[in-house]
Formats: sequence, C-alpha cells, structure tokens
Amino acid sequence: MRIDVLSIFPEYLEPLKLSLIGKAVTDGLLQLQVTDPRAFATDRHRTVDDTPYGGGAGMVMKPEPWAQALESVVRAAAQDAALAEPPAAPGAPPAGGSTALAAHEVAESAMSGLGSPQVPTDDAAARALPGQAAAPGRAASSRPVLVVPSPAGEVFTQDVAYELAAEEHLVFACGRYEGIDERFLDWARGEVRVRPLSLGDYVLNGGEVAVLAMVEAVTRLIPGVIGNPESLTEESHTGGLLEYPVYTKPAAWRDREVPETLLSGHHGRIARWRRDQQLVRTARRRPDMVLALDPAHLDRADLAL
Ligand code: ADE
Repeated sequence: MRIDVLSIFPEYLEPLKLSLIGKAVTDGLLQLQVTDPRAFATDRHRTVDDTPYGGGAGMVMKPEPWAQALESVVRAAAQDAALAEPPAAPGAPPAGGSTALAAHEVAESAMSGLGSPQVPTDDAAARALPGQAAAPGRAASSRPVLVVPSPAGEVFTQDVAYELAAEEHLVFACGRYEGIDERFLDWARGEVRVRPLSLGDYVLNGGEVAVLAMVEAVTRLIPGVIGNPESLTEESHTGGLLEYPVYTKPAAWRDREVPETLLSGHHGRIARWRRDQQLVRTARRRPDMVLALDPAHLDRADLAL
C-alpha cells in the first residue's frame, strides 16, 4: 500500500516513522510520504490560506496548492506502479488488453480520472482480512482514495479501517484553520474517490492528529504488519463486541485474584467465560453496540446470559 499525507505541518506526522508503521515501511509493506502543499504556493510568502468569502472568523486553505499537491502524489504513484510492472513477454498481448503505456501516460490517465491501468488487478482478494467489508474483485487500478479528516465527515470505524486497508493508494489531506476551499473537494471528486472522515463528535485543530489515528488503525490491518494476525480477530470492534478483560502473572496481586476459570486450563470454559465478559462489558459500556448485534450471530448461551 502507498499512503500520502498532505499537510502544511509535516513535523506533526513524524511519529509515523516509529514502531510498527516505521517497520512496515522498512519491510517494504508500506510506502509512506508526507507532502507540504506550501511547496506549491507561488507567491514570495508561500501563502496557503486567505480570509473566508462572506466573512467570519479564521482562515480558509486556498485550493490551488492542495490541487497541485494531490496531482503530484497521484502522478508519482502512477509512475511507480508503471515502473513496477514486469515487462511483457515478447509477442504477448498488452496488459489489461490495452496498449502498454509509458509511465507518463499512465500518470496522465490517473489524473484524468481513468486510474492507473497498468497496475495488477487482483491482489485485493489476497488481502482479504477477517471481518473485512471486503472489496471482492476490486481492481487495484481503481482511483486513489482521498481521505479528508473533518468533524463533518462520516465516522471512522473499524469497518472503515478494513475498507481502507484493502486499497492500493490512500491520500490524506490534513486541513487546518476553517478547512480547505470547497472547490478543491468538488474538483478532487473528478480525479479520485473522496471520503470525508471524522474521528468522532469533537473538534481538533486540524487533520494531522486524526490522520495519525487513522493511518495506525488502517496499516495494522495490512497482512504482515502485525506479527500475530490472530490478535486482530479477538479485539474490540471485530465481531461487534468489545474485547474481554485480560490478566497475566502473578495469579494474586494486591488482594486481587485472576478469575478461577482462566486458571482451569479448560479451553471450552475459558472461551465461554470470555464471550460472557464481552457481552456484559459491551452491554454496560456500549448498549448501542448490543442493539446493533445481528441476532443470527448470537448462540444459545449468549441468549441465556
Ligand atoms: N479535524 C478536526 N476535527 C476532526 C475530527 N473530529 N475528526 C477528524 N478530523 C478532524
């Protein structure tokens, strides 16, 4: 996967070099780049914002530097994809049934809304993940997704994280101040798939902190990023329930004992205990999630609880 982040404060994204995300980059599972739209501002002061038409508080990000920054990363991704394409065997029909394109032609077609036709098409299925709102048959040549973090977006959930983890190329546009001129988004909808996403019902100063959270939630779902993929199947928000409480040694600590069932060695009882804990915890903390459960996924012991 390739991730581009557009931000006028690139230093905010430095933590993405750390830990599992940094390792995923080193291991070649992820390509991650931060681009500053200020580099595309043309005046002496590299201005990227201006006062809002119609009046009001704050400043609005100007559309042109953002459009050029987006064009540059989409073009770069298409060129990389074209270069990565193995050379066609002599006499073989052109890939995808079309005439093979030079890298710059692929880049141009990507920016004209056609996607990058040279990219292999069916590795999305190979990336299917547990609980994923899978995109079967998704062409890897589909256009990049532009994520626009905004308190006015659709709520970012684990299902959305799985959807994004199946993409080839994500671009995050971190607005600041009062946001980016709406015409940038109107224009971008003709070039890429635009997805405004909110971390939750509160307001941050800009998109960078939201991007740190979203990129971490998405990239940990890429196969190979997390050492033990089993840890993905048991965690909160997979299967519609919060996760069960966990314990480690010592068996007694400050007058508190580890629940006896967990010491029993009886796998069936342990699994039942954990499931009950999930149900009780979810009912107490997130009754909205219990109401949203599909009754078909509840077993008889769940219903007896
Ligand atoms: N930018 C400002 N507030 C935000 C939020 N709640 N989620 C995503 N991006 C934001």
